[in-house]
Amino acid sequence: MARWALVLAVVGAWWSPAQLLDPPQCANDAAERCAPEGSGQNEYNYKVDGLNVFLEYTDSGYFKLVCPEGLNLDNSALPSFKSQLRVNKVYLENCPSSRGSYADVLEKLNVVVLDKLTLTDAGNVTAARLARLQHLLKLELVQARLEGGALQAALPRLQRLFLDRVALEPGELRRLPPALEVLSLLRMGTDVTAADLRALPRLERLVLRDAGAVRGPAGGALRDLALESPEAHLPRALAPPLQSVTAYGWADARPEPWLACSPEALDLRDARVERLPAGWLGRCAALRRLRLDGAARLDSLDAAALRGARALQELRILNTALQYLPPGLLDDAPDLKLLDLSSNRLLELPGGLFAKTNSLESLNLSSNQLSKSVLESLSAVTSLVSLDLSHNDIGDSCGHVSDAVRGEPCYKSLQLLRHCLLWQKLFNRCF
Ligand SMILES: *[C@@H]1O[C@H](CO)[C@@H](O)[C@H](O)[C@H]1NC(C)=O
Ligand SMILES: *[C@@H]1O[C@H](CO)[C@@H](O)[C@H](O)[C@H]1NC(C)=O
Repeated sequence: MARWALVLAVVGAWWSPAQLLDPPQCANDAAERCAPEGSGQNEYNYKVDGLNVFLEYTDSGYFKLVCPEGLNLDNSALPSFKSQLRVNKVYLENCPSSRGSYADVLEKLNVVVLDKLTLTDAGNVTAARLARLQHLLKLELVQARLEGGALQAALPRLQRLFLDRVALEPGELRRLPPALEVLSLLRMGTDVTAADLRALPRLERLVLRDAGAVRGPAGGALRDLALESPEAHLPRALAPPLQSVTAYGWADARPEPWLACSPEALDLRDARVERLPAGWLGRCAALRRLRLDGAARLDSLDAAALRGARALQELRILNTALQYLPPGLLDDAPDLKLLDLSSNRLLELPGGLFAKTNSLESLNLSSNQLSKSVLESLSAVTSLVSLDLSHNDIGDSCGHVSDAVRGEPCYKSLQLLRHCLLWQKLFNRCF
């Protein structure tokens, strides 16, 4: 028994996380300048030369240093780890001034960063300060000034770059590391041109938030484009290999048909659009999912607006001012499985709307102003699995609850429905 206890105690001590995670210590010869000031979970405070230094870390996870105003990263009294801390991510917040590189600083702290560096309020970020970090795959810069060519020189393997309010030299986007796969630009004045994209042969995903616009055809290797701003301008040609396009704040009031349209998914929100023209999706032969959500001024669709999008499987047009739909709108979408028209102002559906949609399984007409006439249109849709008619004006169109309960529903052809959601006061069961 005693022997087992001893073995367990030894194993326990060996595995003890306390040993692996011993917090940084002030050097003996800096005892007067550096002192621990209490700790919480993963958090450690120190007083260094009278300044409050805050550290946070988890073994293998991350290391974070928040510099107080006036602290220099070269300060020799900063505490350091006894045994090396290896982490995927390092965050340095508000640590602008040091003469050496970040690698020097981390070495003195005895921290090794493997994957990602985040610098907030970093001042001038130069190639010299990023030296010896060439293995890094991800970089985030928030509020900084970037020296021209610094990233290509110092971080050639960089795959993901996130820039938020970073001052760039003109043409800098063409000088980013060529291995870049994901680029996010936040609150940057920079437009992204076709030439920029050509200079980034591996760039798959581009995110612009409150940043400039994409000028010229999107191209290069771009598969995923996401724009988010009060005025998000999309290029007129959504050229291959683009597969997914998202625009929050889509600014085009009178869009023209796309000149090229390779995406499988288009997600347009908070849009200014007033009208969708004939042939709008004429070149979108690969489009499977379209969402137009939040277009307070959209009050008309051309009957041929969707024509050409023959692969369409999911169509969501919601939160618009649409009162009527043109007849034949869905005639060119035979594979449509899901149609969400909720939260519009629809008064009725045109006759024959579902004449060609033989695969439609899910239909959401919730929160419109539809009256009982809608039930006529629906009688043709025999493939439906789910129907939501809640929040409309079809109140007493089917007689009383008791009629339905007696099994005399007024629209027998909907009997194939497996789940129906006529939440509005009428029924408490399906037909
Ligand atoms: C950053 O670089 C710019 C341009 O080289 C220079 O004018 C500025 O003084 C530098 N700022 C700091 C904090 O070093
Ligand atoms: C129908 O749309 C409304 C409003 O968008 C939503 O709240 C509801 O969950 C949807 N119904 C179904 C069955 O998805």
